[in-house]
Amino acid sequence: MSIEPAAHLQLENVRKTYGSSTAVESVSLNVREGEFVSFLGPSGSGKTTTLQMIAGFVQPDSGVIRLAGKDLTTVAPYKRNIGVVFQSYALFPHMTVAENVAFPLKMRKFPASEVRRKVGLALEQVHLDQCADRKPDALSGGQQQRVALARAFVFEPKLLLMDEPLGALDKKLRESLQIEIMRLTRELGITVIYVTHDQDEALAMSDRIAIYNRGGIEQMGNSRELYEKPESMFVATFMGDSNVFRGPVTGHGLSGAIETAAGILRTPDSPARLSARASDGCLVVRPEKMHVRSPNLGEDSVYATVTNVVYLGSTQRLLAEVPGHGEIMIKQSADNVDSVLRPGSPITVSWNPVDAVLVPGSDAVNAPSTERLAV
Ligand SMILES: Nc1ncnc2c1ncn2[C@@H]1O[C@H](COP(=O)(O)OP(=O)(O)O)[C@@H](O)[C@H]1O
Ligand SMILES: [Mg+2]
Repeated sequence: MSIEPAAHLQLENVRKTYGSSTAVESVSLNVREGEFVSFLGPSGSGKTTTLQMIAGFVQPDSGVIRLAGKDLTTVAPYKRNIGVVFQSYALFPHMTVAENVAFPLKMRKFPASEVRRKVGLALEQVHLDQCADRKPDALSGGQQQRVALARAFVFEPKLLLMDEPLGALDKKLRESLQIEIMRLTRELGITVIYVTHDQDEALAMSDRIAIYNRGGIEQMGNSRELYEKPESMFVATFMGDSNVFRGPVTGHGLSGAIETAAGILRTPDSPARLSARASDGCLVVRPEKMHVRSPNLGEDSVYATVTNVVYLGSTQRLLAEVPGHGEIMIKQSADNVDSVLRPGSPITVSWNPVDAVLVPGSDAVNAPSTERLAV
């Protein structure tokens, strides 16, 4: 049996309202020391407000925030020992790069020799030791953000908070800085909370992701858990493409099932919260788990008519119409591409019920799966 280490950062029922509107409903969260956690969610879902409360710039209405066992409620922001990086670089324009990075050390009254040593080391770590004497306006956007990063970790904070730090940069630079931030923060062993609305960024960088929706965390887990075991329609549709079948939940032997227009569809997982008497459920099947062939023993299947074939080199995406249900998407990998399929071809689509997930029925669908077809 493994013993869960004590949480490094702990939020308990933290809440923030502005007048009659609720920015953060009630967030509880445990982050381990050295962990890289992303907050991922649509705009306005409460990510920044949560981060600002951890940093101390915003006071929660209620709830507790602890860092390394200490209650932060009454601790001033600059005494929390937390480094912060925002989307806008927020460097001091009149100071050189070295002076910018030295600033938090001078605030904390480090001796001059220590300041020099730590600034030199931090600038080396972000590959800017050649630019120490330049002013921020003589740097590119990516370089400025590396200065902001160095300034945020130079005083060896217990926690590093980053709010969409790469949001203003172009895609190529963003990807190279993602790798740099991952390498650096893991080297330093620092605990990170990283806010983003970019799914790929969160998947690439994080140990765990907290999916935000409407002022709260909808589900938290590693990428695989969120993708393979979503607990709500919101998470299922926010993380990648999915096919969703709706209908009343029924018992089916020891497993769960729903009755759809396309037949009874099963899953071995029958979450307790979805009893046979629960009204409607949604069965989620990822497009790459669906196959164009007659079902093998134990598989489920639906009949469909191909409506669209998109060849993408390494994959092929099929859209197909299921009578009484609507459109589904099937992703075939390169070695499995069916080249004879055309719009109008009748097909049987099958999958293993193990690859289907049952979630409560809900209207919280913010990211329709077909949106990504345009890519
Ligand atoms: N200072 C503020 N005054 C009033 N409403 C705010 C303030 N800050 C945030 N909000 C509201 O709280 C909600 C959550 O905002 P925010 O935490 O910035 O979301 P996110 O970072 O996920 O985009 C939004 O509806 C936003 O308009
Ligand atoms: Mg924000």
